[in-house]
Amino acid sequence: AAATQVGQTLAGKHVVVSAGGTREALDPVRYLGNRSSGKQGVALAQAAAAQGAHVTLIAGAMDVAAPEHKNIAVVNIESTHDLLEAVLDHAQHKDALIMAAAVADFRPASTTNEKIKKQDDDSAPTIVLEQTEDVLRSTVEQRDAGQDLPRVIVGFAAETGDAHTSPLEYGRAKLQRKGCEILVVNEVGVGKVFGQDENDVTMVFADGSEDVTIQGTKQLVAEAIIERLAGALS
Ligand code: CTP
Ligand code: CA
Repeated sequence: AAATQVGQTLAGKHVVVSAGGTREALDPVRYLGNRSSGKQGVALAQAAAAQGAHVTLIAGAMDVAAPEHKNIAVVNIESTHDLLEAVLDHAQHKDALIMAAAVADFRPASTTNEKIKKQDDDSAPTIVLEQTEDVLRSTVEQRDAGQDLPRVIVGFAAETGDAHTSPLEYGRAKLQRKGCEILVVNEVGVGKVFGQDENDVTMVFADGSEDVTIQGTKQLVAEAIIERLAGALS
């Protein structure tokens, strides 16, 4: 076995991380996509590798470069369908999956091989959308149906509250719907500062463990999630 450093909590484990945004083609030049810097996913991949894990980073569109690390393999994807196939393939026989990707919920119901041209009459096309696959939910379902998929699956959710329901309550409902082990809930909206490297997240757990709130940089958040993941895998 490869030499492992003392205190490396994920030595011998293989972690799959998805990061960045998916893009859904409308025609050869246009797409519908999700904004995502990819920073949190990359920080997670680095934090896991720093703890001795072998990491597969499944990367959609990102503002940041994929990390160069001997234990991080990068798989590039574009669409949600690509992401689903890559996750179901690369997460086979692995220990953990972290779905940090910002996945497009909808895609054009049809795509064309030729660029959509402008019409002389000033008209504009109507784009019909359909839902994309739910990668997280599908992976949990296939695992629960007996496939050798990660026993710890972590989802992310950015939630706003409303008059009746807090962001965390929405997060708990989403954790149940998705069926994953851990959901990292990012409370967005009122009173929260956007566009900073700081993050304020709460981890909620399917096994009833007490919530864990983490405040700090994306690196700090990543390290706290990885620490918790290592605990769940040990
Ligand atoms: N996710 C996914 N496939 C999708 C949509 C989301 O795998 N088609 C994953 C995300 O990567 C994230 C988690 O599911 O880890 C929650 O994403 P979120 O957008 O909050 O949940 P949705 O089910 O899409 O619900 P909504 O956007 O309506 O709140
Ligand atoms: Ca969504």
